[in-house]
Amino acid sequence: MCDCIDTTFVSSVGAYVDRFEAMICELTGAGYAIATVNGTAALHVALRLAGVQPDDLVVTQPLTFVATCNAISYLGASPAFVDVDSQTLGMSAVALEAWLLEHAERRVQGTFHKSLNRRIAAVVPMHSFGLMCDIEALLRVCDSWQLQLVEDAAEALGSRSQGRHAGTFGQLGAFSFNGNKIITCGGGGCIVTDDEVLARRAKHLTTTGKLPHAWHFYHDEVAFNYRMPNINAALGCAQLEQLTSLLADKQATASAYQSFGMAHGLNFVPARPGTESNYWLNTLLLDSLSERDAFLHYANQQGVQARPAWRLMNELPAFITAPSGPLPVANDLAQRLVNLPSGVRGLD
Ligand SMILES: Cc1ncc(COP(=O)(O)O)c(C=O)c1O
Repeated sequence: MCDCIDTTFVSSVGAYVDRFEAMICELTGAGYAIATVNGTAALHVALRLAGVQPDDLVVTQPLTFVATCNAISYLGASPAFVDVDSQTLGMSAVALEAWLLEHAERRVQGTFHKSLNRRIAAVVPMHSFGLMCDIEALLRVCDSWQLQLVEDAAEALGSRSQGRHAGTFGQLGAFSFNGNKIITCGGGGCIVTDDEVLARRAKHLTTTGKLPHAWHFYHDEVAFNYRMPNINAALGCAQLEQLTSLLADKQATASAYQSFGMAHGLNFVPARPGTESNYWLNTLLLDSLSERDAFLHYANQQGVQARPAWRLMNELPAFITAPSGPLPVANDLAQRLVNLPSGVRGLD
């Protein structure tokens, strides 16, 4: 940080942005990483690069943070909701396939919603609270329908399935480095991809569409000022250096919650076999809405900041009319799910 300030390059250009992007590539195994001003901006541009256009539908899950649906909406597209899986809390591949079989058809121009006559442009699963969704199964469904998969990996830095890092399964993935995430840049985000052409486009679109030149300012299209400032990238580099110990700390907290849950008959949601979670937020499932509310009241009275899941996206005014499949699991989880305090405790 001090070095970054000493260089005076604290703003939109500087060496720390390149270094941060290289560190993200090394961590995730992605071919390319493009740092952005926040995770929402990363998702917005990732969806644009996946080909999402006005009036398209983008399939996502109702149990997510509003940024997923906002990014879809920025492109003039609309979310379409399919249910989540009760084990992973992420998009259910079974629900996705069932919804597509009922509503979608392949046409020369792409996959379309039959009755709405709208193109289905992409699928955006989210790794809820750092738990890996069944991304391999989702990828298989997307491939069979020729749909682009863009991973909202905002909450999943450090999470893996079969050793492969979150965000690197789809054509594009997006991370957030907001202050509440496992590492922070103050604010920040990142797009990852293995596709060199998409990576170049992502850099161009997030940096005002300026053609590189020592002194000329020439912008060849309308683009975004979504670049991550150098000072935020410097903070991100320092944070990434600590990621291994941060993940170990989070894992220890999750194990303690899991043991406590087992001893007291509480249903802790663990990582699925074959996956590793960063346990960004630890999750309990209570037996009923009344039990959840009693738990929340008691915990908060004791100064323990337990909280319910986000309000489901299909219930928010902006998305209430969006197409949706049946959502029994999301509705059930919304009533019984509690996130427990999960901050790094500084155990070593
Ligand atoms: C699932 C999800 N998507 C997207 C975002 C957006 O990230 P940001 O807050 O950095 O814009 C977040 C986090 O805030 C998130 O939790």
